[in-house]
Amino acid sequence: MEKQNNNWNLEKLERQALSSQDFDDFVLNQSGILNYNELIILDVGCSNGFKTEMLFDKYNNIEKIVGIDIDENAINEAKEKFVNNNKYVFELKNIDDLDLKQKYDVICLSYVLQHLRNPKQIVSKLRNLLTDRGVLIIKVPDDSFKLCYPDEENLLNKIFTLYENKIMPKQVTTKYTDRHIGKKVYSYLKETGYNNIKLYHNITNTLNKSLEDRRKLFKSSIYFRTASNKSNVDESVKLEMENFLNKMSEKFEDDNFYYTMSVLYYIAGK
Ligand SMILES: C[S@@+](CC[C@H](N)C(=O)[O-])C[C@H]1O[C@@H](n2cnc3c(N)ncnc32)[C@H](O)[C@@H]1O
Repeated sequence: MEKQNNNWNLEKLERQALSSQDFDDFVLNQSGILNYNELIILDVGCSNGFKTEMLFDKYNNIEKIVGIDIDENAINEAKEKFVNNNKYVFELKNIDDLDLKQKYDVICLSYVLQHLRNPKQIVSKLRNLLTDRGVLIIKVPDDSFKLCYPDEENLLNKIFTLYENKIMPKQVTTKYTDRHIGKKVYSYLKETGYNNIKLYHNITNTLNKSLEDRRKLFKSSIYFRTASNKSNVDESVKLEMENFLNKMSEKFEDDNFYYTMSVLYYIAGK
């Protein structure tokens, strides 16, 4: 049985966090901020602190790590785990309520911006919370950067469309989610006055992958859209989605099938 709560599935987040760690480390290094000392970090949407620790714990020049989240269970888990480590501060707090007087050298939003109702305003506000040397790091998905071949029935698009129109808006955690935010962040950053903007794509595909790895990719990148575990979704929608997902899953069994996706990472300075 997977560990569940009212908000995010923490086990799924942890699996996801592990799978991208090398690229996450690479991006933080590219930001240049690690050349400085006495760094203060803010991890927005830190969940239970699992990713926060993986990202920042290993650097001795990081002095303080603040994590905020609106998921009470996850924040309590984080508080409990780090109770004896005074480098960490975890708070149950909405990004809308951040104290504008505090300044941070790194503000990190890992898979968070796409879920916010007002992403551009938040990007703008966060600029005021950066130190002069500070960097904003945003990791976001974008379903437009996913494609596959062959797909005679246009299944991938049908899965995305059904999820976005009939499933995603009904869940508390995803009611504002923008699955196409990746491409928009550059203009959010430019229009709100950021400088030195960099963009990295972490590409994952089925090329030369084992069957086990292809199945994992299907599960993490496509299958999470299932509605079979959601009580507030119409039965007809559940069935339609299961049908699409089953057919897509069969495609991943075939060694010749090509699927590719990329996750976008933005770094920006004041
Ligand atoms: C997909 S999870 C990402 C967790 C973690 N950052 C990671 O990369 O594994 C999104 C997190 O953002 C949090 N979140 C969503 N809206 C928020 C808000 N307005 N303020 C603070 N946290 C928020 C959610 O509760 C959830 O824990």
